[in-house]
Amino acid sequence: MSAQAASAACPRAQAQRDAAVVLLGTGQVGGAFLQLLRTRAGENLRLVGAANSRHQTIRAAALAERRLRERLNIAGDARDDDALLDALHASSAATKVVIDATASEELAARHPEWLARGCHVVTANKALAGGDLAGWRELQAARVHGGEYGDSATVGVGLPALATLRRLHACGDRVMRIEGVFSGSLSHLFNDYDGTRPFSSLLREARAAGYTEPDPRCDLSGEDVARKLLILARTAGFPLERAQIEVESLVPGSLRNVMLHEFLERLDELDDSLAARYAAARARGHVLRHLAHFDADGRAKVGLCEVPPAHPAAHLQGADNLFAFTTGRYTKRPLVIQGAGAGPEVTAQALLGDILALR
Ligand SMILES: NC(=O)c1ccc[n+]([C@@H]2O[C@H](COP(=O)([O-])OP(=O)(O)OC[C@H]3O[C@@H](n4cnc5c(N)ncnc54)[C@H](OP(=O)(O)O)[C@@H]3O)[C@@H](O)[C@H]2O)c1
Repeated sequence: MSAQAASAACPRAQAQRDAAVVLLGTGQVGGAFLQLLRTRAGENLRLVGAANSRHQTIRAAALAERRLRERLNIAGDARDDDALLDALHASSAATKVVIDATASEELAARHPEWLARGCHVVTANKALAGGDLAGWRELQAARVHGGEYGDSATVGVGLPALATLRRLHACGDRVMRIEGVFSGSLSHLFNDYDGTRPFSSLLREARAAGYTEPDPRCDLSGEDVARKLLILARTAGFPLERAQIEVESLVPGSLRNVMLHEFLERLDELDDSLAARYAAARARGHVLRHLAHFDADGRAKVGLCEVPPAHPAAHLQGADNLFAFTTGRYTKRPLVIQGAGAGPEVTAQALLGDILALR
């Protein structure tokens, strides 16, 4: 069969052979995505634009450079989203994809517009879907008539949590409870914390190894996990708002508004209360885990919990994530998804997987 005949017989293969992509964000995840583009798995994608927050380029020679990420850090054209979108539309590719590998709320707010303009959006940025309900609804409306929205990287860094919920929902299975450990960094910290060393010393090590955000308060506040819980609950059909989630911050009030360097100097102020909670849990034969919980009756909570040895989260290792879905058909025991819950490589792979799955 000729190549033309083959692609007529298989439009999906045609789309995969001919996809143009613009990459927003060349940090850890964007950098790992650029590496993937150079592998066989990315050979059918054509990069037509790339940007960080300060610079961008649509020049083919610059985009082909191995040190594109480093170059954009020091030079490039001035930032202009519309010029990037124009480059995407000017390409002859059948499939046009904007990849959002940033945490920018401003960019996330433009996802519906890009979908409406016929582009697909593939994102690790959860600011829109995990933001206020109006943004979520705008996104759903744009998804009906516009391009497709790849969001596997927003929750569980590519573990099939959202895909599974969508499937259950589409099959009419009613989700009754969503529970789990949704933060790789908090998973790592509490899987390792056994009371023998101060929590602050583990936290310093985790930060140095890149497991936490540069400002660990972003992890410890629970807000990132709350966003993931919002996305999961909404995907399961519940119009949950942030105000309905009880979020326990592990950052003492006295450290919430100080500069980062002062917070890092005073990290040991976290130690006593966490040591007391660990000892109390241990006395009952339990361990501490950072859990998120949503019930169909609307109860939603994020924070540190004592869990018994039989709880699925009790045996987590490393930075694993865990998602447990109790539904009308998974009633006695939940459907459980578990695996690596952090890291730029698996996140970049989730982005690529969403692109390759585009119809
Ligand atoms: N790292 C992980 O393991 C992981 C896992 C799951 C999900 N995620 C999510 O993936 C996203 C990226 O994370 P990351 O770790 O790669 O962050 P990062 O290393 O801080 O990189 C963020 C990138 O976004 C760029 N950026 C910010 N605003 C921009 C804008 N308006 N236009 C274009 N670029 C902009 C930054 O540019 P500058 O360099 O100029 O600041 C930087 O290149 C976040 O939403 C994060 O929550 C990350």
